[in-house]
Amino acid sequence: MTHYETLLTQREGGVATVTINRPKVLNALSQQVIEELHRVLDDQSFTRDLRVMILAGAGEKSFVAGADIAAMRGLTPHEAAEFARLGQSLSLRLEASPFITIAKVQGFALGGGCELAMSCDIVIAAEKALFGQPEVDLGLIPGFGGTQRLARRVGLPLALEVLCGGRKLNGREAQQLGLVSQVTTAEDLDAYVQNLVKNICKAAPRAVAETKRLARSSMEQPLVHGLAAEASSFATCFAGSEALEGLSAFLEKRPARFTTSE
Ligand code: HXC
Repeated sequence: MTHYETLLTQREGGVATVTINRPKVLNALSQQVIEELHRVLDDQSFTRDLRVMILAGAGEKSFVAGADIAAMRGLTPHEAAEFARLGQSLSLRLEASPFITIAKVQGFALGGGCELAMSCDIVIAAEKALFGQPEVDLGLIPGFGGTQRLARRVGLPLALEVLCGGRKLNGREAQQLGLVSQVTTAEDLDAYVQNLVKNICKAAPRAVAETKRLARSSMEQPLVHGLAAEASSFATCFAGSEALEGLSAFLEKRPARFTTSE
């Protein structure tokens, strides 16, 4: 398995866990971290037949406390643009990936950390997690998508309160406001994520990937176009083996057995 300096990676069956491993700086995102996350996605032997990727931060305190402030201080405008684009393209790749991405947020998810979580398909957080976009306090603005994705997730007034007014959201608030799908105690976080992963892995692989693609495209296109794409994709379910297996298994009162690739 490829070695990374800033990440820990693990693959078990169809499930990968990628842990940002810079706990001394609360897992701040240096350029190297983001480049290594790109390399994980480039590594076809690692991502082959992957069903779920869990993104996590090392230690108990922080998912990711933002982009690396020390490294950003010396950036030229050109370098800053490159850095923003590197993070944005990572977000887009995570969103476009055929596997489900889960952000497991046990602590700080600030600035680039909140943006990274928002790039994942599902965000599960502990009660004491803390989401925020404090860039303006540093004389910056978000650069990995925060000005765009936060308003889409939580609506403009709250997004602007978080982005410009320093509002931080704990896990429970983030759930109430739609940023997080489930909040747990710190002790229950792993078990909740593992159970979710198990359910995703039990479902038909192609159907899950197609559902993600269609649901994600709903954010970008008019309803009628999305519905047409859904009907067409629903039809293709009947050209493959998954629907036959899933429907038969139900009628025969047995668990479905799906293969990872058709
Ligand atoms: C670099 C960081 C860091 C960061 C924390 N550290 N956040 N280093 N980049 N984003 C370092 C601290 O300097 C400190 O190092 C160590 O981690 C522990 O942090 P403390 O501040 O001592 O911990 P605590 O008092 O518990 O406070 C935690 C915190 C605070 C509230 C999360 O660290 C904080 O406010 N961090 C910055 C959060 C932030 O502003 N994020 C947005 C960044 S801008 P030492 O060496 O002193 O032990 C951004 C832009 C994204 O994300 C887009 C870019 C294109």
